[in-house]
Amino acid sequence: MPPFSPPPSWLADAVLYQIYPQSYADSNGDGIGDFAGVTAHLEHLSWLGVNTVWLNPCFASPFRDAGYDVSDYLSPAPRYGTEEDLARLVDEAGRLGIRVMLDLVAGHTSDEHPWFTASARDPGDHRYIWAEPGADGTLPPRFVRSPGTRPGGYLPNFFESQPALNFGYARQDAAEPWRQPVDAEGPRANRAALREVMDHWLRLGLAGFRVDMAHSLVKDDPGLVETCRLWGELRTWLDTTHRQAALLAEWGDPQMSVPAGFHADFLLQFGGPSDGLPMRSLWNNGTGTVHQHWEQRDSCYFDAGARGSAETFVSAWRSATALIGDKGFISLPTANHDFSRLCCGPRTAEQLPPAFAFQLTWPTLPAIYYGDEIGMRYLPGLPDHEGSVLEATYNRAGSRTPMQWDATPGAGFSTAPADRFYLPLDPDPDRPDVATQRADENSLLHLVRRLIALRAGTPELGGRGSVEVLSTGYPLVYVRGGRYLVAVNPGLAPVTFPYGTDGGTPRPLEVSGVRIRDGAISADGFGFGIFAL
Ligand code: NOJ
Ligand code: CA
Repeated sequence: MPPFSPPPSWLADAVLYQIYPQSYADSNGDGIGDFAGVTAHLEHLSWLGVNTVWLNPCFASPFRDAGYDVSDYLSPAPRYGTEEDLARLVDEAGRLGIRVMLDLVAGHTSDEHPWFTASARDPGDHRYIWAEPGADGTLPPRFVRSPGTRPGGYLPNFFESQPALNFGYARQDAAEPWRQPVDAEGPRANRAALREVMDHWLRLGLAGFRVDMAHSLVKDDPGLVETCRLWGELRTWLDTTHRQAALLAEWGDPQMSVPAGFHADFLLQFGGPSDGLPMRSLWNNGTGTVHQHWEQRDSCYFDAGARGSAETFVSAWRSATALIGDKGFISLPTANHDFSRLCCGPRTAEQLPPAFAFQLTWPTLPAIYYGDEIGMRYLPGLPDHEGSVLEATYNRAGSRTPMQWDATPGAGFSTAPADRFYLPLDPDPDRPDVATQRADENSLLHLVRRLIALRAGTPELGGRGSVEVLSTGYPLVYVRGGRYLVAVNPGLAPVTFPYGTDGGTPRPLEVSGVRIRDGAISADGFGFGIFAL
């Protein structure tokens, strides 16, 4: 395979912002967020300084998995508006210097997608993975009985309503005749379909895609060799057709996905050599996390009790960046729609400033999950909604509640009666909101804005500059680009770290509760400081 083109240059300066469209802003009073609602709030994003938005799936869907069950990749779901509404959102965002990316659900469709309903009728169709029943009538493990006239069953990729698209198997097995090679007709048709879908939206002005379960495509694929080959082929196509488009993986293993062809990959609560531990060791967001379980989980670094260490994260980071080099980026999200927000369990909003000071000065592609910029909290105890519950103790709905825009009863999210809201609002009378925080320069929102501006104006603090880590304990101390010192203390107790300045006086750029003097850095509880050396 020829070498890939360098990543689009805009990606190095990107600050991502994830919008869960059904929960962001409702423009027509039906209780569900929509494109026009997002468009009406672009000014917030522009004021905040984020320059790239990614939207969770907004395509036609029966919503058994909140839109990750796509029934038509080329049509927006009517509840979000029309293609024209999306085009208007993209245009107006572009005028404000904001790129918009979509979510490409590559590994499966809805069981209501016409490809699947046709496949469930036609034993000669191989867009999905179908197995015949055995002599005793049973299906192989994990296969689900056909809903159509076709006998046998299909392999799901996530929920049963999400049949896996057939990208083939890396290994054949005479005892499992449903395994097809990766270059069989069905897998070839599906790879071509991915290109068509991408081409359609990129032509409309979208800036790229976050790719759902990007690691999941080729089955029984030791080392994910064939899955990587598939993405390499797609990247080569993208390099020649849409070189400015970005591909971000939901894979959780940048050292594998970026060399394979992605421009960036998210650190997640799963994936990679230690199955998500680097990310969990920061925020405590493991699979199954709900706040009731917080105390039972591994200790994490952003913990008021200072029971963690940043070493797990930093050493995983070092080895991943050594392998990736300048081929792409590792994206560090504050949270996403699948795991708990930063403000969860015993972690309160007053503990978030050091977390943002860290995220926005680390050499990453930072991704802010909507509402984290005001410290919205994970809401425990919500009902299962559109497939939000994965296990009894794992309800994603708590991270998907409506954006809190102002202090009115509907929080400025919607004018619908409260019982028609996509999910309930945080009932806390003191819930944070954008309007209140915008009026207060000491708010988290203002801090996040200043940190983004500082990063934008200081290349050494961005995704490409060097980092020298001096301490992975409390405080975490590092120097960016040889010139900017960052110290953060997520713990409640004050801490110190020996640090000589050779007589110079570090210039505070954004500091709260951190001092450098007398040969030491001293940090108050939840303090953070960014200094020019
Ligand atoms: C990952 C998505 O982030 C999640 O929300 C979804 O349920 C699964 N993939 C299945 O598409
Ligand atoms: Ca609406």
